[in-house]
Amino acid sequence: MMDDSENLRKQVNDLESRLAGSTDGDPFRRVVESAPYGMVISDAEGRIVMVNRQAVAMFGHSAEEFLELRIEDLVPPRFRRGHDGLRHGFHENPEPRAMGEGRDLYAYRRDGMEFPVEIALTPLNLGGGPLVLSSIIDITRRKRDEEDLIRYARRLERSNAELESFASIASHDLQEPLRKIRMMGERLASVSESELGEQGRDYLGRMIRAGDNMHRLIRDLLAFSRVGMRAEGFRVVSLIEPVRDVLSTLELLIEETGAEIELGELPEAEVDESQMRQLFQNLIGNALKFRRAGETPRVAIEGGLVESGSGPLVRLEVRDNGIGFDEQYHDRIFQIFQRLHGKTEFEGTGIGLAICKKIVDRHDGRISARSRIGEGTTFIVELPTRQKASNERTSPYS
Ligand SMILES: Nc1ncnc2c1ncn2[C@@H]1O[C@H](COP(=O)(O)OP(=O)(O)OP(=O)(O)O)[C@@H](O)[C@H]1O
Ligand SMILES: [Mg+2]
Repeated sequence: MMDDSENLRKQVNDLESRLAGSTDGDPFRRVVESAPYGMVISDAEGRIVMVNRQAVAMFGHSAEEFLELRIEDLVPPRFRRGHDGLRHGFHENPEPRAMGEGRDLYAYRRDGMEFPVEIALTPLNLGGGPLVLSSIIDITRRKRDEEDLIRYARRLERSNAELESFASIASHDLQEPLRKIRMMGERLASVSESELGEQGRDYLGRMIRAGDNMHRLIRDLLAFSRVGMRAEGFRVVSLIEPVRDVLSTLELLIEETGAEIELGELPEAEVDESQMRQLFQNLIGNALKFRRAGETPRVAIEGGLVESGSGPLVRLEVRDNGIGFDEQYHDRIFQIFQRLHGKTEFEGTGIGLAICKKIVDRHDGRISARSRIGEGTTFIVELPTRQKASNERTSPYS
């Protein structure tokens, strides 16, 4: 934030050294006028001796009026007490510095309005007694934008939390009436099967299957809405652990399908381990599920570290030689209940990747997929090796 002011200090230092031998009118004034900041030069007593146009525009005093003022007149009355002492302190140890670092500074306009500013102070040594150059940036706009952004983020967080708790409550409350419908359907089927006739049995059978289906959807929706809420904390773990757990859960399926699993080295990262299990469970589960008939399923799980602008990332890949999909749908598959393959061929509700995406988002990471029909699919997950402190949110929704 103070980059501008640092630049300015450099300019002034350069200038001071060049001024001595200059024959070019008043180059000092020209530089002061061309600076994009308000500039006010005052002496050790606080008397203002020079200002530029930007300062005139900023404060509303004319250049002549300024020369009648003291630097304290530009400080809001509520902060004036003690300013004297600060000024003396500066002149005792005249070093370029940002004024009031870490504090919010305000300046005082001719009409009595205050406005937020950043100020850099630079001692000047032009021959006739010590001076100080205050370069002043009006940060009203920046502050307003920042505040807008914070408000906006809060609103988003709130509406996100509301949406999640809605999904969670709705899916939870839908379970009970649905349970009754399924139970009564099954009773009806066993009690009155013979009286129903063929068509009646067909209708009832379809109703029960639709109920089962809905049960799965609701269960998965509930799981999805709980990704943020049921979160354990982040810990630094080797990612090989959750992968091993998942492979042992899937052992039977691996055996049945004769799949070959290739497990590479996986690095450490700061993660929610149980969510990593959920992530790999779905990615490896998909790799086995969407296999090609008559082909030995091969699944490779690999990882490594890559550099990024925001620090090192863990890059994970889950690669298969399965049926693949048309890559134009590479985004859609991460949406809730979106499936590209038929329900009769491959079971599932289409929630797995939506959960994966939510988990990866919660870790501040990214997930993407590359695929070719008939050749196979690779899922790529990138996670920061360490979580930012702010990512361990206090809100139960994240
Ligand atoms: N490894 C893969 N190979 C080919 N297609 C895939 C693969 N992984 C996902 N897909 C496609 O993306 C869709 C969404 O995947 P997702 O895991 O969300 O759902 P699902 O596996 O069908 O159901 P669920 O995970 O809820 O049991 C799948 O239905 C499938 O069409
Ligand atoms: Mg799945």
